[in-house]
Amino acid sequence: MSKTLRLTADPDGIARAAALLGDGALVAFPTETVYGLGADARNDQAVAGIFAAKGRPQFNPLIVHVANRDLAERHVALTGTAARLAEAFWPGPLTLVLPLRPDAGIAPLVTAGLGTVGIRVPAHPAAQALLTKFGGPVAAPSANPSGRISPTAADHVLAGLDGRIGAVLDDGPCGVGLESTIVGFDETGRARLLRPGGITAEDIAGVLGERPLPPEAGGKITSPGQLLSHYAPRGRVRLNATAPEDGEVMIGFGPVPGDTSLSESGDLAEAAANLFRMLHLFDTAEAIAVAPVPEEGLGAAINDRLRRAAAPRN
Ligand code: TXA
Ligand code: MG
Repeated sequence: MSKTLRLTADPDGIARAAALLGDGALVAFPTETVYGLGADARNDQAVAGIFAAKGRPQFNPLIVHVANRDLAERHVALTGTAARLAEAFWPGPLTLVLPLRPDAGIAPLVTAGLGTVGIRVPAHPAAQALLTKFGGPVAAPSANPSGRISPTAADHVLAGLDGRIGAVLDDGPCGVGLESTIVGFDETGRARLLRPGGITAEDIAGVLGERPLPPEAGGKITSPGQLLSHYAPRGRVRLNATAPEDGEVMIGFGPVPGDTSLSESGDLAEAAANLFRMLHLFDTAEAIAVAPVPEEGLGAAINDRLRRAAAPRN
């Protein structure tokens, strides 16, 4: 593929990005969580291009992005608990896994052959503008080579995928910095947390009056977020460190100092937004030590990502 275009998120850049998607090209775009690597979700070949560009194992289903709830309802039925969550959190960092309508028109590769699809309405203005201009569903995983750190800036996207995708729509760093929360539903319609993210179990309980069920132990959801060493920088990662050991760079948090800090004031939202950027910053370090982060609110999602970054590599 020729060189990857860097487009600005002005009306001209948005129009060019939408036209590229229509031509079956891959376009990375910002969302409030991370940059996504987008393709027309109705176009098998374009979707296949995502897997090729990422070098991603084929069994992982992709999230479908649409501009609004009406467009989502072309592909899934939004009723009951799902409708209440969509009402409360869309547009925003929430993905709902729902049965696919028979006439949904989504390429099977998007769902990896499952009868369900993960769908979300991102809030980021550039994502909104692109999806509105394009008008159709955009399949997008995070815009990084498979198994590597998720990108929260256009430079991260280009570091991993330059020359392998048509364009990146550059609109600065992402605000949330963690992938969306993924919620599925059991046979009785109860919400189940499939991946922790920017919207917490507490936020969901605030809307539904009960906490979502925890991720199923041994469940067979083939989510890369559930492959143990998915979020991996190159070096070894040691968690709950209070001081660096020989050869380690240190990422601090709150009172625990480091070469850099997720948040000196101990703010979990700031830490979430900084997490992948700091793992990128130290991507070439031999070993990284990370201060303890409390397992509350957004801390649960941060620790989930950190545990995966620290998991033994295969
Ligand atoms: O914030 C985000 O969610 C970002 C931005 C770009 O939207 N996207 C993202 O995509 O993180 P990705 O491909 O890295 O993760 C998608 C997750 C996977 O873990 C996948 O298994 C799960 O969504 N997923 C998608 N469809 C599913 C389905 N039908 N059933 C279960 N899990 C599903
Ligand atoms: Mg990913």
